[in-house]
Amino acid sequence: MKIKEFGVETWINEHETSCTCDLTNTCVGVMRFNELLALCDNPKNVIDEMLNLQLGYGKVFGTERLRNNIASLYENAKDANIVITHGAVGANALVMLSLIEKGDEVITYLPIYEQHYSIPSSIGANVKILYLKEENNWLPDLEELKSTITPKTKMICINNPNNPTGAVMDEDFLKQFVEIVKKAGAYILCDEVYRGLTHNGNPFTKSIFDLYEKGISTSSMSKTFSLPGLRLGWIVASKDVVDKVNIQRNYHVICVGRINDYLASLAIENKDTIVKHNLKICKTNLEMLDNWIKNQTRITYVKPNGGTTAFLKYNLPISSKNLCENFQHDTGIMILPGSVMDVDGYIRLGYTDDKDKIQNALNIFSDWLSKI
Ligand SMILES: Cc1ncc(COP(=O)(O)O)c(C=O)c1O
Repeated sequence: MKIKEFGVETWINEHETSCTCDLTNTCVGVMRFNELLALCDNPKNVIDEMLNLQLGYGKVFGTERLRNNIASLYENAKDANIVITHGAVGANALVMLSLIEKGDEVITYLPIYEQHYSIPSSIGANVKILYLKEENNWLPDLEELKSTITPKTKMICINNPNNPTGAVMDEDFLKQFVEIVKKAGAYILCDEVYRGLTHNGNPFTKSIFDLYEKGISTSSMSKTFSLPGLRLGWIVASKDVVDKVNIQRNYHVICVGRINDYLASLAIENKDTIVKHNLKICKTNLEMLDNWIKNQTRITYVKPNGGTTAFLKYNLPISSKNLCENFQHDTGIMILPGSVMDVDGYIRLGYTDDKDKIQNALNIFSDWLSKI
């Protein structure tokens, strides 16, 4: 299976060794083991249990404890609906490899996390790309969806909250979306890796799994739970989809690490504390970014409602690749060009790292912009 290069990953791999400040990070509040331990009622007990973990394959479908914990993040999920994977990347890939075949019609949106169009294309699907627009607050145009979807559409791939725009489809919007898709009988794969980081109201925006029988939710420990290094994700879907996915899973996953399974449970059991902490960072830093943007003449954006990234439009006659190359060359600061997500004229900023670091980088960016 030939697949196009992953633009975001390639850019970061090629630029991170020479940067002095990274504004491409999409994680928030990444924890040390110590910090996770400090959230537990009985840390000594945790250490004892971990020291005694036998490092075999263990339960290949994941421990009951972890499966129950993941189910608790949904309204209607039962054990039979859960598949544990290697990160959300593993979850998205397994869903697509299991359900999409050559010639199938797949609809997705740009900008979005690249897997959602690259993998279906690599399978040989007929991928229809619709463009999210700032004038719609980066939300899908439902009339456009109605006129694009056909009875041949196998799957619609969406991402909520969205990376890079930070747009959030709320329950009402998702219900309207589902009504349209239901008529065609297509699956909706919703990458919900930032679910839990909706900035206002319930941080866990309604999951597609709880709204539609053919809704498939993918997510992970990486963003909301601040543990990207566990490489642990999941799929929540109907039993029928789970059965299909498990055929592929045996080839690609076998199981996740037992220590990761154990630590993921600890984090989900302490989700309220972790989410509260992370939301505070998201909101405080976003206000700082918002204040900075208000003073810019060449940068505009639609303020995000969730997630950890913002997609900034710049008003300069230069490609986003050149802008980011030149900026990093002059200042050492790495930002992500929109063109590596196949949308030029924008840059993606991860704003949930250390506040002072970001403020300082933004100040350098304004200075730099005023001189070119
Ligand atoms: C929308 C989206 N999906 C999936 C992933 C991958 O997440 P994981 O670390 O769980 O593989 C990312 C990571 O940035 C992401 O932004």
